[in-house]
Amino acid sequence: MRAFVAVLPGDGIGPEVTTEAVRCLERVAAIFGHDFVLEQAPVGAAAMDRAGDPLPPATLDLARRADAVLFGAIGDPRYSDPSLKVRPEQSILGLRRELGLFANLRPAVTHPAAYHASPLRPDLLGGVDILVVRELTGGIYFGDKTRTEDSASDLCSYSAAEIERVVRLAAGLARGRRGRLTSVDKANVLETSRLWRSIVNRVVPQEFPGVAVEHMYIDAATMHVLRRPAEFDVVVTENMFGDILTDEVAMLPGSLGLCPSASIGSGRGGLYEPIHGSAPDIAGRGIANPYGAILSAAMLLRHSLGLETEALSVERAVSGALAAGVLTSDLARQGAAPATCREAGTAVVDRIA
Ligand code: IPM
Ligand code: MN
Repeated sequence: MRAFVAVLPGDGIGPEVTTEAVRCLERVAAIFGHDFVLEQAPVGAAAMDRAGDPLPPATLDLARRADAVLFGAIGDPRYSDPSLKVRPEQSILGLRRELGLFANLRPAVTHPAAYHASPLRPDLLGGVDILVVRELTGGIYFGDKTRTEDSASDLCSYSAAEIERVVRLAAGLARGRRGRLTSVDKANVLETSRLWRSIVNRVVPQEFPGVAVEHMYIDAATMHVLRRPAEFDVVVTENMFGDILTDEVAMLPGSLGLCPSASIGSGRGGLYEPIHGSAPDIAGRGIANPYGAILSAAMLLRHSLGLETEALSVERAVSGALAAGVLTSDLARQGAAPATCREAGTAVVDRIA
């Protein structure tokens, strides 16, 4: 097939890990006979330096025209003051909103080869395969904000339609997996959560009768994902709870660097990015972990291009590289020589079959 992919490497380690993900896409194209046209554009601090805008119109336009967006990471210590008017984060928030990417899929799958890197005991890690579906364009992130000298407010609001579409998407994914959906909210306190819960209770039994639903408060959920992670299948939750919960769940596989994500909307297009940030402390040294970026490219193949076989071959190649002990510094055992970003990328490229 022919596909057009916008590549937005961004800041810090973004370019290094994106380069390895692109090599994997090129390998997939060569082996499976596809024609992937890749076009790059600046985003985040890199774009602020060049154009004074973290999301220049030309970058947004490219993202709109593309079949999918491969995104690296954004953020720079020079622009980390949260009170700045123009910030790198505005690029990713703007892309999500402008492209209508209302659902963020963040899988966390453990690999025996990386158990030692997880802060959790190995006996808790077997069979962990959690998919968090985070609502991405609503809630407190995008509600009205006010600020005076001595008070501030952020409005959290959800419409029924916003909740329904992400719940349907999550329930559909649960149906294709182990059939279990955990809806995380704070319905004992928040009105938006009470609406959320009533919609889950209406939509899932009616439209997805085979899917078992359980409700959990966010505070309890943060505990249970550590206490019994293997029991979770698909988790669906609102924007900010999902932001927090996914960083926590990302610790199960051992490193943020292993975790991919997909942001999708109602169409085929989507944005695919590792969940780690720009890691300025290790940027440019060639030691970043590219597996999260590569696994994001696999999600791109699956969700935006419909290439399931190709996605699986990339995922198997990453598992193979991990099993062969190709571990970057975030995963390597003490005393063992860590793999470089390029070596890890090559270990995957060579295993794509
Ligand atoms: C994420 C990030 C973003 C978010 C930031 C960079 C705005 O933390 O993708 O999880 O909060 O959504
Ligand atoms: Mn986050």
